Amino acid sequence: MSETGTNGPTLRAIAVETLTAEQAAEELKALALEIAEHDQRYHQEDAPTISDADYDALRRRNIAIEERFPDLVIADGPSAQVGAAPASGFGKITHRVPMLSLDNAFNDDDVRDFVGRVRRFLKFDPLMGALAVTAEPKIDGLSLSLRYEGGKLVYAATRGDGTTGENVTANARTIKDIPDQLNGTVPEVVEVRGEVYMAHKDFQALNERMEARGGKVFANPRNAAAGSLRQLKSEITASRPLRFFAYAWGEMSEVPDDTQSGMVKRFEDWGFQINPLMKRCETIEELLGVYHGIEENRAQLDYDIDGVVYKVDRLDLQERLGFVSRSPRWAIAHKFPAEQAFTVLNDIEIQVGRTGALTPVAKLEPITVGGVVVSNATLHNEDYIKGIGQDGEPIRDGKDLRVGDTVKIQRAGDVIPQIVDIDLEKRPDDAQPFEFPTVCPACGSHAVREKNEKTGRVDAIRRCTGGLICPAQATEKLKHFVSRNAYDIEGFGDKQVDAFYKDGLVMSPADIFTLEERDKRALTKLRNREGWGALSAKNLFEAINSRRDIDLHRFIFALGIRHVGAGNAKLLSRAYGSWANFSEAMQAAHDEAGEAWAELNDIDGVGHIVAEALVEFFAEAHNRDQLDALLTEVSPRDAEKIDASGSPVAGKTVVFTGSLERMTREEAKAMAERFGAKVSGSVSKKTDLVVAGPGAGSKLKKAQSLEVEVISEDGWFDLVGA
Ligand code: IVH
Repeated sequence: MSETGTNGPTLRAIAVETLTAEQAAEELKALALEIAEHDQRYHQEDAPTISDADYDALRRRNIAIEERFPDLVIADGPSAQVGAAPASGFGKITHRVPMLSLDNAFNDDDVRDFVGRVRRFLKFDPLMGALAVTAEPKIDGLSLSLRYEGGKLVYAATRGDGTTGENVTANARTIKDIPDQLNGTVPEVVEVRGEVYMAHKDFQALNERMEARGGKVFANPRNAAAGSLRQLKSEITASRPLRFFAYAWGEMSEVPDDTQSGMVKRFEDWGFQINPLMKRCETIEELLGVYHGIEENRAQLDYDIDGVVYKVDRLDLQERLGFVSRSPRWAIAHKFPAEQAFTVLNDIEIQVGRTGALTPVAKLEPITVGGVVVSNATLHNEDYIKGIGQDGEPIRDGKDLRVGDTVKIQRAGDVIPQIVDIDLEKRPDDAQPFEFPTVCPACGSHAVREKNEKTGRVDAIRRCTGGLICPAQATEKLKHFVSRNAYDIEGFGDKQVDAFYKDGLVMSPADIFTLEERDKRALTKLRNREGWGALSAKNLFEAINSRRDIDLHRFIFALGIRHVGAGNAKLLSRAYGSWANFSEAMQAAHDEAGEAWAELNDIDGVGHIVAEALVEFFAEAHNRDQLDALLTEVSPRDAEKIDASGSPVAGKTVVFTGSLERMTREEAKAMAERFGAKVSGSVSKKTDLVVAGPGAGSKLKKAQSLEVEVISEDGWFDLVGA
């Protein structure tokens, strides 16, 4: 979970009923940021980091706080938004009828409440007969709106933020379930909506193909579908086996039926695939029967679903029910709980990472959980295996894990499967407590748990002390070196690292750049090796050569220094500007009484732990040797050096308002940050400076009333001397 605001996580523990208004305001702000971040990861990066259940919990908390403090609702906060704004690269399409979202039900009672609410709203008493409601699977894919004019497909748009989506027409045309021309007589304008998804068998085959080519694999079918639909080249989409179920509609010049189920039947007549499990029900018990039936058979379906959607069948009633903020009052999604299943723990394998961390992985008897075969689960560290949590608290009621145990696996949404319980009655008599190795399984060096001298606590992670003699650390370091945020060499992925390392071709980063030279003299040329040819070898050398000069921040990140992620690498590259400055400073910083050490610690965002890791890295002779070798081959590009200490706005909080003429808002923010200022969206007592362009309104007024200094855009340029 992200860190948002200093008090966000602490406030999260307070019950909504006991929050003060001040706490509520802060929490709403934190939730808005956090939810937006998860939306971005889910909708734009196709790489969510929390489970659907946790995401839903965040949204529910947000709604609960909003209900208690309606005055504090943030106008463009999570309740006002559906999904995330469209990504760039595609044209935008504004939906003529917004694409909304569904409210969620999590148990049978929530469903009874839903039907009760609908009946009350409509004053639909039992004497008026049955209230028909449809039930159908909620497909875990991504929604798409297809516009037809005169029966011909004119465009396809993703949901985007619900109002504006991406134009993915060329890609949609490659999907065989999406007709280019509708069958029979159809209204002049028809917008059919539904879900694009990938079937399990197609997903597996696709991942196998991608893996064989050394590319990245998709974590699940939803991400594969999203990633495939949002390809900028439609030939790529065409090669991906996508499917489509039609279940809803947007604009219709004429609505040809008067029920939901009737409309879906029309879609089928027009040439669409519709879900065969959809049922029209007349009682709540019938609805719940469909839900539990689908839930039981979920694993047999060839596509992922995450619940069942109920919709009031009569369209006139739908119309009367209308919408509440982001979702229709006439429909609800009944979500499945996190999936659980029992299986046997066959083994505990120890993996060695690039920093030497020994990570235990559970090898499970393969089992289907929620339609996905699970055979591995992370076990974090040795205390976790013993049943001890991070702060010493018991986990799994303190039960330790033993090979041979029957364990309960939970897979919630997209997160990595967890072992949540152990059935002790099934424990084999001879099962032994797991003995965590004290030597590295890859190189035999000692593996130790370091003690943090400041806190006095022993690290939860055991590490191999072998450094570069450890083949596991060496290959993991190389994999990091060529990874996406580092050198990002096309055609040089994990597979190539493993193969080249095994054959002694690439043992260190510098070797990558001497590969071509050595290949000229080699007896066995790369192009003659299995899986390679003249063209692929040439392409690889070209890709390597094109990356000889990369940005300093990528270079720093590529080194794989502990605690130096992509963000810290950027801070460091901006602060030091050039490799020469940086490396000199890191060596000088070894003296903790000296200026270089103080300077390093003064960089905003770089903490003590990072500073120590840097100094340690540069103090190690073999790291310096490797760097020297590498730097004869490559040259990191200098960064724009910022000396915020001399900046007149360093440490100040600045607000930009009104229209800016010399720069965009984004540029203004980046520029202010370059000069060491913090940019805020609203004016308060803490604001130091307001830069106001023409048309500035309430923020300018507030600044004046608080007597905050206000300058023009030109004044800003003069001030920072840019
Ligand atoms: S109906 C106005 N039916 O769920 C509501 N949505 O959380 C229109 N979804 O954006 C949506 N299967 O992507 C509907 N059978 C189904 C669905 C379904 C999946 C998705 C859809 C929607 C989201 C709402």
